[in-house]
Amino acid sequence: MVATTTTDLDLTPYGGVTPDAAWREEVLRLAEERDAVLLAHNYQLPEIQDVAHHTGDSLALSRIAASSTASTIVFCGVHFMAETAKILSPEKTVLIPDERAGCSLADSITAEQLREWKAQHPGAVVVSYVNTTAAVKAETDVCCTSSNAVDVVRSIPEDREVLFCPDQFLGAHVKRVTGRENLHIWAGECHVHAGINGPELAEKAAANPDADLFIHPECGCATSALYLAGEGAVPADQVKILSTGDMLTAARSTNASSVLVATEVGMLHQLRRAAPEIDFRAVNDRASCRYMKMITPAALLRCLREGLDEVTVDQETAERGRDAVRRMIAIGQPGGGE
Ligand code: 13P
Ligand code: SF4
Repeated sequence: MVATTTTDLDLTPYGGVTPDAAWREEVLRLAEERDAVLLAHNYQLPEIQDVAHHTGDSLALSRIAASSTASTIVFCGVHFMAETAKILSPEKTVLIPDERAGCSLADSITAEQLREWKAQHPGAVVVSYVNTTAAVKAETDVCCTSSNAVDVVRSIPEDREVLFCPDQFLGAHVKRVTGRENLHIWAGECHVHAGINGPELAEKAAANPDADLFIHPECGCATSALYLAGEGAVPADQVKILSTGDMLTAARSTNASSVLVATEVGMLHQLRRAAPEIDFRAVNDRASCRYMKMITPAALLRCLREGLDEVTVDQETAERGRDAVRRMIAIGQPGGGE
C-alpha cells in the first residue's frame, strides 16, 4: 500500500512508546546496525527532531538524502519527501516510519489533472512544488521547494509560460516577487497553512507591535502580511516570508526579542533551540499537521526493527521525475538544516 491519498485511511498513529533515554539509545543503535541515516523535517515531533542525525527543511533534506553515503535513508517526514529521496537514490533503501503520512497539498493535484492543464498551455514550463506525488513529478520540468521557488522561476527564460503547481499561496508569492505575468497558478493548498489566516495575523501583530513576523509562503495570511506592511500597520522590515530553513537563519540574526511564527507548530522547537533568548509564538497554535505527527516514537522504533515501511517508486516514473528533482537541488541557496 502506498499513501498517495490521505482521505480514506485509518490515520491512528502507532503509540505506546515513551521517548526516554533507552528509546533514544535503541533508535541510534538500530540505525547504526542498518547503516541508516535518520532525517527529520522541521515539523516533526520534538523527540523525533532531537534523535535524528539531520533536521531541516525540504530542500536541505533532499540534498542530504542525495549525498549521504548510508545505504538506508529513514525519512521522518511525509510520504512525498521519502519518495523524492527514492527518486534521487534508487539504489538506496528508503524507509518511512508510517507510510500513511500523506500531505493534503500533494493530494491537490493528480498527474491526470496536470496532463490536462499542460494540454491547455502547449510549450509551457511546468514547475511543481516538491509537495507532489512521484507521478506528478514525472510530468514536471523542474521541482522547487519554498526556499528556492523564486530562484527556480527566475531560471526560466522570461518569454516562456510557466505552470506553477500545486500551492496557490506560494505561487502568488513567487508571482509577486518575480513580477512575472506569464505564470499560471494551480488552486491547491495545504489545509494547515491555508488555515493560518489574515485576520488572525492582524490581531496578533497588533497585540505584539515589536515582534518580527516569520511567515511561510504556503500560509493563507502571506498576502495579508505584505498588506499590513504596505499599510504601515507593521514596519516592512519586520515582515519576512521564509521557508522553514530560512526561518532558522533569520532567527539567528534578528534583533527582535519576540517573533510571531506563521507555519506548522513543529517549527517552534527548532527556532527555540536556535535562539533561546527570543520569545517565539505561533500565529495559530492549532496549526499542527496530523500527517507529520504520525511519525511517533513507536513508529520510528517499528521502522528500524522491522525495516518498514519501505518506499518504492516504479522505475519509469522515477526516471521521468529524476531530472526535475535534480534541477531543484541544483538551484538556489543551501536550504536550511543543521
Ligand atoms: P519547507 O521545509 O520547504 O519550508 O516545507 C514546508 C512544508 O510544508 C513541508 O511539508
Ligand atoms: Fe503537507 Fe501541509 Fe502537512 Fe506540509 S504541513 S506535509 S504541506 S499537509
